[in-house]
Amino acid sequence: MSALPETPEAAAPPSDALGVVGDARARSGETLALASRHLDPSLVDVLSILGFDKEHVSAQGSHLYDAAGRAYLDFHTGEGFASLGHNNPDVREVLRATLDADLVDGVQIHYSALAGMLAEELARRLPTGLDAVFFASTGAEAVDSAMKFARAATGRPRLLSCESSFHGVTLGPLSIVGDDFFKEGFGPLLPGCARVPFGDLDRLEAELRRGDVAAFIVEPIQGRMVTLPPDGYLRAAQELCRRHGALFVLDEVQTGLARTGHWFALERWELEPDFVLVGKALSGGYMPVAAMVTRREIYQRAVGTLERCYVHQSTYGRNRLSMAAGLATMRIIERDRLLDRVGRVSSTLTGGLAELAERYELIKEVRSAGLMIGIELCEPRSRAARLNWRLIHRASEGLFPQLIVIPLHRDHGIITMAAGKNDVIKLLPPLTLSTAEAERFLEALAAVLGDCEGGTSRNLAVVRRIATATLARRARATLS
Ligand SMILES: Cc1ncc(COP(=O)(O)O)c(C=O)c1O
Repeated sequence: MSALPETPEAAAPPSDALGVVGDARARSGETLALASRHLDPSLVDVLSILGFDKEHVSAQGSHLYDAAGRAYLDFHTGEGFASLGHNNPDVREVLRATLDADLVDGVQIHYSALAGMLAEELARRLPTGLDAVFFASTGAEAVDSAMKFARAATGRPRLLSCESSFHGVTLGPLSIVGDDFFKEGFGPLLPGCARVPFGDLDRLEAELRRGDVAAFIVEPIQGRMVTLPPDGYLRAAQELCRRHGALFVLDEVQTGLARTGHWFALERWELEPDFVLVGKALSGGYMPVAAMVTRREIYQRAVGTLERCYVHQSTYGRNRLSMAAGLATMRIIERDRLLDRVGRVSSTLTGGLAELAERYELIKEVRSAGLMIGIELCEPRSRAARLNWRLIHRASEGLFPQLIVIPLHRDHGIITMAAGKNDVIKLLPPLTLSTAEAERFLEALAAVLGDCEGGTSRNLAVVRRIATATLARRARATLS
């Protein structure tokens, strides 16, 4: 294994008069027990089965650290929220200064300059005319806001989205999410929502032709499996929406703010949507914050009268710390030329992955846009390996990628993720990733792939054990 970075120098431990931080440090050994008791025991169980049940005690830049001081290179970043690396010191300084300034935070009846400045900054980075902003705390809330504003602005009821899409899990966005397993048990969901296959313009036009569609809501690159749109698809979809009087909504919660090597992915196809939704990275890795950006006339048509100007609100939507974190994030992306850096490090990663795809049959395809990368695995050729593939898929769709994810974590201290019920490993490293860190990842992945191809693969044995236990649990549940 290559050398891992040392735990960062312990500064004087932070403390507070109420003892909150001191108690959290003292009780860090109880983290998972507390989560199991009061938060989500099933998730704790899943983490433990996969060997991810570590008590990380600190984080800095591209790494998390456990109590023993072992470093973990983070290629997950909480699905992209820690895009500037963990505990970015410059964002922290801005947050401290914001707190120390004793600014007013009466969010419902007061506008701070910070909120206007962040809205101005977002508008500056988006196509002309997208300059009316509603701030929220989560990506789902930004999506939900666009769903409401599109209906109110057009007077039309229906909302279109894509199969395999993801837009969040509160009831509004859940109603347009592409995969049914997120929805089971939560219905009835919103009426008037329909899905079309991502990339299928005929199906889109057939729905739009009915003349009752308020909006088509689409991720420019589908995040779940890192699916890129077919050539010309998004431009043509935008034109179809215009022709049929529907609004074109781009969900850039995951792709926005330099993730794909552009400020927004829409630049790649020169799109001019009616809404852009932003979240995740805007947090600077610290604060919940998201934004719905639209055109002024749409905003005004939806809620723009004296009687209705307060009907769509969010208590913490434009709180000072979130606004300051968003501004700091955008300044850091610019100051540190992160768009260039994403391009450079992405080339190192995708070049290395292409070589690995040549060498190892397990890799079917690598898809990427900047530092949003999906590695799709495929059924191996040998008879024994195919039997294992089938057993593992029978136990759980989405388990197979753990063949790579578990040993990357266990043996190489690298955090990646399986992307749901499919065979994709998804990488969302920090935008601040160094070339050396990218190379360390490639070395580790090569070692893991090499082991998986061996007839006596230890990694395969681990995943087979999980599959067999899952099947046995299911059989017991069916019998009882
Ligand atoms: C494209 C997209 N939209 C919306 C969301 C929902 O964001 P949040 O989890 O902040 O509600 C996500 C989250 O992963 C996302 O990827």
